[in-house]
Amino acid sequence: MSDAPLLAVRDLTVSYGEKQAVRGVNFCLHRGEILVLAGESGSGKSTILRAVMGILDTSVCTGEILWEGTDVLQLAKDARRKLAGEEIAMVFQNAGASFCPVRTIGSQLYESVCAHRAWSYAEFRERAEALMAQMQLPRAVLDEYPFRLSGGMAQRAGIAAAMLLQPKLILADEPTSALDALTQVRVAKELMALRRRMGVAMLLVTHHMGLAYHMADRILVLRRGETVEQGAREEIFRHPKEAYTKELIAAVPRL
Ligand SMILES: Nc1ncnc2c1ncn2[C@@H]1O[C@H](COP(=O)(O)OP(=O)(O)O)[C@@H](O)[C@H]1O
Ligand SMILES: [Mg+2]
Repeated sequence: MSDAPLLAVRDLTVSYGEKQAVRGVNFCLHRGEILVLAGESGSGKSTILRAVMGILDTSVCTGEILWEGTDVLQLAKDARRKLAGEEIAMVFQNAGASFCPVRTIGSQLYESVCAHRAWSYAEFRERAEALMAQMQLPRAVLDEYPFRLSGGMAQRAGIAAAMLLQPKLILADEPTSALDALTQVRVAKELMALRRRMGVAMLLVTHHMGLAYHMADRILVLRRGETVEQGAREEIFRHPKEAYTKELIAAVPRL
């Protein structure tokens, strides 16, 4: 059981009306592993994350999304929501913007935790402070309003928030794209450190092959909703089989 994949996506197709945004995609993700979905804009990366997160209507998805062996596409909406809420966390491109501007970060986090855990405020506070420290943020960030944080700090606070319920999987959609180059590197490093310390798996979406090179164990290259190729990071970078993958790699200024 323990070497069964955490997540197995089989022959996933997602349609928005007539348009197939994702076609016949297959991949596996093991515990603690980082899989990067790479490809140009419009290739279906975010759609795959939405399907895994369970926020798409199941009627638009065909195929299987097996979470620890259970096909989440067959679950009722409530069961899917509960699973996603507790075991899967999402980090957005602009996590800072997902905080409400007029309330402190700590009070918002406590409220969202209360939907899932019967923690006292003190218990919450201890866990949240420890996570902020892991993300190299002062614990006082919890008492701040979102606008007081820089973009990089807000993004790291968003990642700490995502880790509060100790998810097994983080879904991250272009988590560093809105940041300047140095801050991108820093946030990427913090994500890697989280994986090391907490063993959390990540499904990371990016159009930036440089970031993929730094973070991925394995890479799946997508184009127009279809898999171009997938493999171990070294394999993809050293011996790309497809012209499209070579183009993506060539577009990175310097590795
Ligand atoms: N809600 C939607 N309704 C209709 N088409 C959509 C919707 N979201 C995305 N698409 C289309 O699906 C394709 C894949 O989009 P997306 O998954 O957002 O790609 P990526 O994240 O790789 O940029 C694109 O052609 C996009 O225009
Ligand atoms: Mg996208």
